[in-house]
Amino acid sequence: MNHIEIAPNIYWVGYVDWDVRNFHGYRTQRGTSYNAYLIVDEKVALIDAVKPGKGRSLLEHIAEVIDPKKIAYIISNHTEPDHSGEIQKVLDQAPQAVVVASEKGKIGLQKYYPGNWNFQVVKTGDSIHLGKHLLQFINTPMLHWPDSMFTYLPAQKLLFSMDAFGQHYATSGRFDTQVDMDVLMAEAKTYYANIIMHLGSIVSKTLKQAQSLEIETICPSHGVIWTEHRSRILSAYQGWAEFRARPKILVIYDSMWHSTEQMADVLADAACAAGAEVKVLKLDVNDLTSLVTEVLDAAAVAVGSPTLNSNMMPTVAAFLTYLKGLKSKGKLGVAFGSYGWSGGAVEQAAECLQQAGLEMFGETISCQYRPDEETLRKCRLLGTQLAEQVIKKTK
Ligand code: FEO
Repeated sequence: MNHIEIAPNIYWVGYVDWDVRNFHGYRTQRGTSYNAYLIVDEKVALIDAVKPGKGRSLLEHIAEVIDPKKIAYIISNHTEPDHSGEIQKVLDQAPQAVVVASEKGKIGLQKYYPGNWNFQVVKTGDSIHLGKHLLQFINTPMLHWPDSMFTYLPAQKLLFSMDAFGQHYATSGRFDTQVDMDVLMAEAKTYYANIIMHLGSIVSKTLKQAQSLEIETICPSHGVIWTEHRSRILSAYQGWAEFRARPKILVIYDSMWHSTEQMADVLADAACAAGAEVKVLKLDVNDLTSLVTEVLDAAAVAVGSPTLNSNMMPTVAAFLTYLKGLKSKGKLGVAFGSYGWSGGAVEQAAECLQQAGLEMFGETISCQYRPDEETLRKCRLLGTQLAEQVIKKTK
């Protein structure tokens, strides 16, 4: 993709990564982009760099607009290497450039890239005049790293929001008005669930801060720029940060010889018959990225596992480990499953669900070898009661 002027004298100069499918474990089914922005004024500023290996493209895009030697400031809104990986390559062209970062950002950049960079540390309230453009900085610690910050241009009502409001979405359109909104919102939701879900209270606080800013354009570090639909993403973030749930029950399981599968089906059918929205998701055909996206607006998660060598199935353990780190709130949990001669998986699943912040609902159900009529009756009853509870809770 070529550079593009997104506002007078402000350019997108990043890299669209059409091929990436695994972003540190996140399944990026539509690729991504590493956005960098160039502000051309009496002094020239580059907002963020790109992932290691994509610097040639960044420099080519910059050179289409100005001589890269003219860059006076490299603003590092976020230290993670997908946005800082090629700062050195820019500095090789513009060695006089000052790297602007938060205090934690400077520490992180020095650890990643030992060198003799000329830093300027900024904090909320600090600003830099480029000429006609004023850059204001807002620390947003832990959204999603300690170093994170926003850069805001008050005159242009434009926010460089680093990862916040981003999407892993490779597209030839640079703006929300140029892409399919359903796809865009789905990718924004997936991004939020996998990267930001565990930071709900910090997101709410940051959204309150953002309310004091006039914002017409939001330029994230991944995906497309929000213009016409900016209020839609801001409102979606508010709902996600509050863990607003639908009357949706997820039945997530794995199975060895169909016993846990049968329990999952019976529980799901009963919950569905009682009026809940139900999704049955087997772990060997659903990736973790899409599973936790489903968790974001679910009211309950029922997890089923057979016992394998006195433990949960590894697929179930992996899902629950991932879920635990994402610290969802306000959801109900259910655990069920089967075993052969020694149990353990169901109790372990229940413990993991509790550690992940879910409130356990009803009793765990486990059966030896095959679920008998009594076991299936319990699954049916639990499905019905769980549905009644989530419908009541989400009214
Ligand atoms: Fe896109 Fe947290 O890096």
